[in-house]
Amino acid sequence: MSLEVVILAAGKGTRMRSNKPKVLHTLAANSLLGHVISAASELEPSAIHVVVGHKAEDVEAAFKDLSINWVKQTQQLGTGHAVAQAMPNISNNSTVLVLYGDVPLIKASTLKAMLADVSGDQMSLLTVDLSNPDGYGRILRDQNNSVNAIIEQKEASSEQLALTETNTGIMAVPAQRLNTWLPALSNGNKQSEYYLTDIIAMAAAEGVTVKAFHPATEAEVQGVNDRVQLANLERQFQTEQATKLLLAGVSLRDPNRLDIRGELTVGSDVAIDINVVFEGSVSIGDNVTIGPNCVITGTIIANNVEIKANTVIENAVIADDCVIGPFARIRPGSNLAVGVKVGNFVETKKVNIGEGSKVSHLTYLGDANIGKDVNIGAGTITCNYDGVNKYVTNIGDGVFVGSNSALVAPVSIGENATVGAGSVISKDIEKNQLSIARAKQRNLDGWQRPIKKQD
Ligand code: UD1
Ligand code: MG
Repeated sequence: MSLEVVILAAGKGTRMRSNKPKVLHTLAANSLLGHVISAASELEPSAIHVVVGHKAEDVEAAFKDLSINWVKQTQQLGTGHAVAQAMPNISNNSTVLVLYGDVPLIKASTLKAMLADVSGDQMSLLTVDLSNPDGYGRILRDQNNSVNAIIEQKEASSEQLALTETNTGIMAVPAQRLNTWLPALSNGNKQSEYYLTDIIAMAAAEGVTVKAFHPATEAEVQGVNDRVQLANLERQFQTEQATKLLLAGVSLRDPNRLDIRGELTVGSDVAIDINVVFEGSVSIGDNVTIGPNCVITGTIIANNVEIKANTVIENAVIADDCVIGPFARIRPGSNLAVGVKVGNFVETKKVNIGEGSKVSHLTYLGDANIGKDVNIGAGTITCNYDGVNKYVTNIGDGVFVGSNSALVAPVSIGENATVGAGSVISKDIEKNQLSIARAKQRNLDGWQRPIKKQD
């Protein structure tokens, strides 16, 4: 049987108190629905159908690059009604997996186990035992302990309310069965809704086995209804990622003060101090130390690199043995070769810095190619922008740029040239030349300072 996934995401999410549809709120920088779609994609289904209603256009626009079959449910008449809207597009020979767009941490491994057991006369249901089952549908079992119905909280007797095995909402059902059961649902209940959960009693009545599965952790099946639950799930997700890193041999000064909002790969003997945020895809080699309060986005860091406190790095490539920060800002397109040193209050952008070069303090380097063993003095600025266009600065190997120099691009400085401190360089410098471009100093003897006037 082929697999088709239906994700329910039509609800408004009133308790989020937001203009944004609930499923577009983010957890670790990915939307709730994005997480569910990723888990579904891992199962390689033949199609993913997402049922949308509230602000459907916004939800669709957020995933316009993915191949998703969007199904409109204009009125939210219940979970059974929602799934029914998707059925006309679904092959009768497939297995349908129902997921919720607001249950973001569901794992593909759990779903795979559920799917393995679906056949013409067997379906899978994900249930969880909760110490506080309030609000959830309760799982009813017969004398043989087989699941034979789900009773919604609002419909349940006090005896049934005492049951703690609850419905997560996630199930895998042969499409053929859904096509007969869904049209038979009635909304004659307290909420006047078509409950998807009512198909369980239909299954039992027809001799279809309902096999119950359980998630590895409760977090996997927790839904987001308000921002408290969202914040709690974010923390649980981050804790899980931090635990994986610790077990993989990474030192974390405090696993509760680390945020990974993307994919992080690490080598051996990496040490990460507190309040470090990783975004996008970041890869770190061996023997790397990252100081506190760093934000690292979409960057490749090689081996034996030291990143000191309060450094921000975005879309850069850092080779072996570099030392960066504290308080450095490495912007997109920065390529640092082996052994480069970038110190405090240095900003770099679209720049290649050659092996062993040093930019130790208070500098802006943008749109520049810098050779090997160059020393850039404090307060150097590549003036790359004339207000309209950007220009490039080229600096050869072994150049020494004195402090407080402005290099007005386009300009080239030849190998081993020296720039005197305080220069404004607007013309090319040949190799081995010394260039000084600053007002000449005059020293006047016997200078009398002005005297304060009496009134
Ligand atoms: C549902 C289950 C309940 C289970 C709980 C788990 C039913 C009848 N009840 O209850 O047994 O314990 O989930 O969280 O299924 N949705 C639509 N269209 C609709 C209605 C809902 O797309 O017409 C979507 C919602 O956006 C949400 C999901 O379906 O993502 C679940 O709907 P919700 O109203 O939260 O169902 P519950 O009452 O919580
Ligand atoms: Mg709910």
